[in-house]
Amino acid sequence: MNIITSLSEMQSTAESLRNQGKRIGFVPTMGFLHEGHLSLMRASRKECDVTVVSIFVNPTQFGPQEDLDRYPRDAEGDRKKCESAGADILFMPGAKEMYPEKPTVFVTVEGVSDILEGAVRPGHFRGVATVVAKLFNIVKPHIAYFGRKDFQQCVVIKRMVTGLNMDVEVSVLPTVREPDGLAMSSRNAYLNADERRAAAVLSRALSAGEELINAGVREAEKVRAKMRAVLLQEKGIVIDYAEVADPETLAPVEIVNNGKVLLVAARLGKIRLIDNLLLV
Ligand code: PAF
Repeated sequence: MNIITSLSEMQSTAESLRNQGKRIGFVPTMGFLHEGHLSLMRASRKECDVTVVSIFVNPTQFGPQEDLDRYPRDAEGDRKKCESAGADILFMPGAKEMYPEKPTVFVTVEGVSDILEGAVRPGHFRGVATVVAKLFNIVKPHIAYFGRKDFQQCVVIKRMVTGLNMDVEVSVLPTVREPDGLAMSSRNAYLNADERRAAAVLSRALSAGEELINAGVREAEKVRAKMRAVLLQEKGIVIDYAEVADPETLAPVEIVNNGKVLLVAARLGKIRLIDNLLLV
């Protein structure tokens, strides 16, 4: 596996791969890799000639009160994981190279960036869209892989790609879960033992919502109430939202039918968790 830290080297490598007719698969990450990331790398390996993984903890997507400084990092462990998953290139740019000066150019995806996560984390999706656009320009992928765990992020990125006519296919793959249902996330590392046990309530709430729908309930308000009730079974939990939404616009719906998405976000102590379930 080739490790690249310079933007210009990554760009010229990508250019030369494209000139050789190679298809580039790209897995952008912020590191502290888990099985969810590895599943994206494996998909890229199957579908593309070359798999590039980036690790960059992107400052522009963190709010001033958020966890940028203590975001979990494990460069050596991540390198080994990428290598064992068969990545060809690990791109690890420095913050000074990605943002040589205070950024003044941003990509904003209006509407879907301002609700749900965007309402709780203002500016977050502007930072995500901006860094993903920059990474696409540097890595020049044919296909970019994202986990459905960050459902709203996937919607924002797809809209950016369509809105700016970017020549990249966005592939969204299923959430990988722990045996008790907790969606894998680098931030799970912050959970203490009690919080870790309690955290599985998010996926239980989603399953309870789905069960209600499978039993024939069509009023979204009843599904929201059910998900909230299940979440509140965990003492001390603070719910940010328990929503039933349209998967394209993320607008709340009144009537549930197939193809809607259930989304939950809640805080356990200082840790904020999100999860979702796409109804088929
Ligand atoms: O999902 C993430 O890890 C990040 O938001 C991403 C897409 C790598 C952008 O920094």
